Amino acid sequence: MNYLCKMMAKTIHPAIFLEQKYGAHNYHPLPVVLEKGRGIYLWDTEGKKYFDFLSAYSAVNQGHCHPKIINALTEQAQKLTLTSRAFYNNVLGEYEKYITELFGYDKVLPMNTGVEGGETALKLCRKWAYNVKKIKQNEAVILFVSGNFWGRTLSAVSSSTDNESRNDFGPYMPGFEVIPYGDIYALETALQNPNVAGLMLEPIQGEAGVVIPPAGYIKNAYELCKSKNVLFIADEIQTGLGRTGKILACNYENIKPDILILGKALGGGVFPVSAVLCNNEIMDLIKPGQHGSTFGGNPLACRVAKAALEVIIDENLCENSYNMGKIFRERMNKINSPIIETVRGKGLFNAIVIKPFSNGKTAWDVCIQLMNNGLLAKQTHGDIIRFAPPLIINESELNSACDIIEKTILDIY
Ligand SMILES: Cc1ncc(COP(=O)(O)O)c(C=O)c1O
Repeated sequence: MNYLCKMMAKTIHPAIFLEQKYGAHNYHPLPVVLEKGRGIYLWDTEGKKYFDFLSAYSAVNQGHCHPKIINALTEQAQKLTLTSRAFYNNVLGEYEKYITELFGYDKVLPMNTGVEGGETALKLCRKWAYNVKKIKQNEAVILFVSGNFWGRTLSAVSSSTDNESRNDFGPYMPGFEVIPYGDIYALETALQNPNVAGLMLEPIQGEAGVVIPPAGYIKNAYELCKSKNVLFIADEIQTGLGRTGKILACNYENIKPDILILGKALGGGVFPVSAVLCNNEIMDLIKPGQHGSTFGGNPLACRVAKAALEVIIDENLCENSYNMGKIFRERMNKINSPIIETVRGKGLFNAIVIKPFSNGKTAWDVCIQLMNNGLLAKQTHGDIIRFAPPLIINESELNSACDIIEKTILDIY
């Protein structure tokens, strides 16, 4: 160990030191080392308790270590965990029936991470473009909107408008076009191109900072797509499963996407599970050998995902998210601080935009102070703090958390 490493090891938490030395520096975490989670709370290695207001980017909607989900996990883990899709297993079909009936689609294609779900949806869209819409081979165009985030693969960064995500990773995927988010006229213009096969978007943009499009945009976009025989693909990986106060954020505008992508909380906070849902005229275009995943649809993931969905339904987490979200925004809007520019959100998917402070502090400093005061949240794009607790939070817990946020914001400036 060189001198610098020895010095670092002495002054920082050993777990942080190890990550710094042996792990890629592709994240910038808050300086807290967590070792336990239950429900809406996390504990660090010194036993300090925190409200979790990030929920692993909405992957822990059901709360940490939900007993029903952990039971499903441990029971199945002792029986059968992975077979690959070379054989049938006795859990996949039951899960497929449950999830397709719940969302009202003919079929599901199971994957693992969210970004794989996005890739799958785009492959389905291209298949459909050439086989059904009869676009000339290799000429299909898929539209995305500015500010989108759907992961880190080369395809995902090809559609990104965020330089940090995109720069130095070219050449980029052809056949992608990005239009301004929330601008229905831009969509109308882009749809004049007969080679457009699909539009993929998040109904509320998560990583962009909980950005809500103008009312009616999603419905109008859907209808425009229908009028031009273009598939409407909804990325509900972050917004879905109750996060915004409904099972899907698209339900706010009463539309049913042609292709629906789910992930994050589908894994119940345990491990990655994603799913792509659509009807037979699209899904049946995929034949053996054309798409797949060694782990997608494994029995362990299927048991966990079914339990994860059942918890959301049985415990009325969508309603709770809707109601608690209203209270959260009411409380935040009452805070009289010059550093709050905007409070926005739907359900328990909220963000506060922080104005640059004249004393040089930033949203990062607010997050550090929140952490010191017992609440974990993380800023995005420098000035936006997302607040997304597990959906099981009750009113008195929410009010205690709001007290911490209020005190932190009032004390910091
Ligand atoms: C809307 C959306 N889509 C896709 C993804 C990618 O999911 P994953 O990180 O599981 O690949 C994310 C991740 O934050 C997301 O927010």
